[in-house]
Amino acid sequence: MAFILKVTSLLTITLVLLLSEITSIVVVARHVQWSSATDQKKSNIHNNDHLVSDLPGQPSVDFQHYAGYVNIDETIGRTLFYWFYEAWSVPDEKPLVLWLNGGPGCSSVGYGATQEIGPFIVGTDGKDLQLNPYSWNREANMLFLESPVGVGFSYSNTTSDYDNLGDDSTANDTYAFLHNWFKKYPLYRTRTFYIAGESYAGKYVPELAGLIYDRNKDPNLFINLKGILLGNPETSDAEDWKGLVDYAWSHAVVSDETHQTIRESCDFSSNNTWSNNNCSQAVDEVLKQYKEIDIYSLYTSVCIPNSAYSDDKSQVMLKKTTSKMMPRILGGYDPCLDDYAKGYYNKPEVQKALHVSDGVQLKNWKICNMDIFNGWSQSKDSVLPIYKKLIDAKLRIWVYSGDTDGRVPVLSTRYSLNSLGLPIKRAWRPWYNQKQVGGWVQEYEGLTFATFRGAGHAVPIFKPSASLAFFTSFLLGESPPSHR
Ligand SMILES: *[C@@H]1O[C@H](CO)[C@@H](O)[C@H](O)[C@H]1NC(C)=O
Ligand SMILES: *[C@@H]1O[C@H](CO)[C@@H](O)[C@H](O)[C@H]1NC(C)=O
Ligand SMILES: *[C@@H]1O[C@H](CO)[C@@H](O)[C@H](O)[C@H]1NC(C)=O
Repeated sequence: MAFILKVTSLLTITLVLLLSEITSIVVVARHVQWSSATDQKKSNIHNNDHLVSDLPGQPSVDFQHYAGYVNIDETIGRTLFYWFYEAWSVPDEKPLVLWLNGGPGCSSVGYGATQEIGPFIVGTDGKDLQLNPYSWNREANMLFLESPVGVGFSYSNTTSDYDNLGDDSTANDTYAFLHNWFKKYPLYRTRTFYIAGESYAGKYVPELAGLIYDRNKDPNLFINLKGILLGNPETSDAEDWKGLVDYAWSHAVVSDETHQTIRESCDFSSNNTWSNNNCSQAVDEVLKQYKEIDIYSLYTSVCIPNSAYSDDKSQVMLKKTTSKMMPRILGGYDPCLDDYAKGYYNKPEVQKALHVSDGVQLKNWKICNMDIFNGWSQSKDSVLPIYKKLIDAKLRIWVYSGDTDGRVPVLSTRYSLNSLGLPIKRAWRPWYNQKQVGGWVQEYEGLTFATFRGAGHAVPIFKPSASLAFFTSFLLGESPPSHR
């Protein structure tokens, strides 16, 4: 039985494994002990019209999955698309995890579900789906949401809805989505709930968690949120920028002179720093060098567009900005991988199976919507104040960082977290997966920070087995393995 795992942007490594070996690999990772149910109890969801039953190219599996629209506002026709995979076994005893990708404007289905942590990875032919043995629905019921409207299949019939999209409206809509989704899935209404995401979702996830925390004061609105998990997250603009330029310099992407100019002329905590020409020219030089390589994975070869990939996307997509605003860079990935997903999700039979169209009047699915990215109207400078609130509320907060990402590099995350000034509970040390150092971990009072050694921006693409093991530790609330 062959499983294809996409490991890097260009490399596709075929792992030919016997079924027994797969079982052993996955079992090596510690599993959360879900009571003693021995029978693989199936879903208790009945008669749900969003059940996906005939998805083209899908490998056969033992779990159920559901996809479709949940309306946010029926009068104006605003609706969000989700894809929900129940856990491989005993879904009733496992938590519910919402996964969000960033952009802003990028799809959690195109990235999270079908390139990173979902059970079905889109094949390089854009036709087949391959089973991902390290899917996170081994350990949790996984809900992927395309948000806000305009992303992926999500849309609004009121065009003015697209005009003022920002962090707050996205959090509001996602919050409304959750309540309406629970109406369709009442079994999950009181389930232990976590929110996870990467990149620009570094803003979405704490913002949504903060909103849930505030609204939970009303018992009728209570959602059983226990924690958040963030990967290479945009967190605080000033620290993120400082980390980006320092990382570029320390990884030999720019010269000493360019870095020195940045040190002398940039003040990233001031929105006016971009009106200083010396600063903005030096930062442009950093981004210019990053256009030559893959900013999201420094040591991966770039996708050289050929006739099969006609989209002329540059690696570093910058938002045009007035000199007073922080320029924003898309939290995106490799265009070669992205086009496989585009091919798959625009197939009539696929859209029909996922309940997004009748298979005749097709929706035009893209992995990232650049209009949303360019038009983003409101972004919080920093979500660190929300971290403080969530730490005080004793939510579990874990932050991880692939250490070969130049976009939201490990330095950005360290600068951000250091500024919280949290006391150290367990000091810096390696954590292990399959007898190798997966990365390093430091536990603070109220927050756990870990690195993934040799992983780019979208960590699970590079380190699928270590990611699943780490996710399992997060769900257990136990430190990642500290022995070989
Ligand atoms: C949007 O409009 C189309 C065409 O009238 C309709 O079929 C669809 O149900 C509407 N969507 C929502 C969410 O109301
Ligand atoms: C979000 O919802 C709150 C409460 O309903 C409302 O006051 C606020 O204006 C909304 N924000 C946006 C940007 O929609
Ligand atoms: C910008 O750089 C030039 C050349 O190094 C220098 O002469 C000038 O003083 C700098 N301007 C500012 C505002 O720092």
